[in-house]
Amino acid sequence: MTGLPPIVAVFNHKGGVAKTTSAANIAACLAAFGLRVVLLDLDAQGNATAGFGVLPLPPAGAYDVLLGLSGIEPVLVATSYPGLLLLPATADLRMAELQLAAEEHSHLQLRNALERHGLAQWADVAVIDCPPSLGMVTANALTAASAVLIPARPDPFTHEGLVNTWHEIRRLRETVNPGLSVAGILLTMTTDDSTEADVARTMRAEFGENVYPTGIEADPKVVEATQLGVPVAVLDPDGGAGHAYAVTTAELLRRLTRTQPLPETTGLDAALNTLRDWRARLPALQRLPTGAEAWTAVAQAQDDAEPHGDWTPDRLSGPPAAAAFRPGMPGLAAAFLAGMLAGGVLVRVLL
Ligand SMILES: Nc1ncnc2c1ncn2[C@@H]1O[C@H](COP(=O)(O)OP(=O)(O)OP(=O)(O)O)[C@@H](O)[C@H]1O
Ligand SMILES: [Mg+2]
Repeated sequence: MTGLPPIVAVFNHKGGVAKTTSAANIAACLAAFGLRVVLLDLDAQGNATAGFGVLPLPPAGAYDVLLGLSGIEPVLVATSYPGLLLLPATADLRMAELQLAAEEHSHLQLRNALERHGLAQWADVAVIDCPPSLGMVTANALTAASAVLIPARPDPFTHEGLVNTWHEIRRLRETVNPGLSVAGILLTMTTDDSTEADVARTMRAEFGENVYPTGIEADPKVVEATQLGVPVAVLDPDGGAGHAYAVTTAELLRRLTRTQPLPETTGLDAALNTLRDWRARLPALQRLPTGAEAWTAVAQAQDDAEPHGDWTPDRLSGPPAAAAFRPGMPGLAAAFLAGMLAGGVLVRVLL
């Protein structure tokens, strides 16, 4: 027993596969299921932090906890959603790789810090947004984590990334974190494209029930939500991606509770109702990007909306108002199914 709550690292060695989108939405959905959640943004890009409208990035955050410069409480940021707190990314995280390399037991820094500072005081469950690399920061995330969720686009180049990711997970399991389980593979940005459908079928055949039954479809609402600094599960809980993240979270909870105790949660219907309630209150909940045209109407509506400041614990200082942040959807890749099939044996060994 570590005294740590279940910690889900959202990781794929590959970039642009919706790690951040998934981490942010699953964290919000876990809160909608009634849990106390801390989302740790360990990516210097700060997209998960900005995705909650926290921009510019705060002066202190996950880096300071990771390097032992701060406790958790002074750098936690309240989000607008009850139960969900953010350990934000800061620009300093860029330096963490080199600095950690100089430390003894460098992979244990985060785990030790989360234990020492009592993460369980604020979190029934924590979610980590990992950077798209296999460096020291990711090693820390996967050493602190009890489970890893792997978002993967069903594009033809996915397989190599997945094999690297499995290798890293296996290596960490065998060395520093025998308790690390695989919480599953989540297909993201799925489309009706026939090549992608083939890849998705092959992945399901290869990885079996490790692949979540529901994928997250490519949905323009995700980009809209990102620009607005709101999780798509809140902006559009009944839409394609938004609803799928709520369903995915229910499935994640089911899998987590197989290995780790969690407090009782509400059911999916109640969680969806909570997300709809947050959606209805968005004008009041949104950290408004000042001057953004899209939010003119929202800003006006906010004047009439009830305040919800009571959701923000006094001791947590709010970040500055948000600015819009960059969207951008990677293009689809060309066919490469043969590699997936050829690597299948290796993956089976790793599982
Ligand atoms: N379901 C979706 N539909 C449409 N666009 C999406 C979807 N999921 C994510 N995106 C967009 O794809 C881009 C990449 O997503 P995201 O930043 O979550 O990936 P990532 O794996 O965290 O990237 P990185 O490796 O750079 O950290 C973002 O612009 C995001 O808004
Ligand atoms: Mg990311």
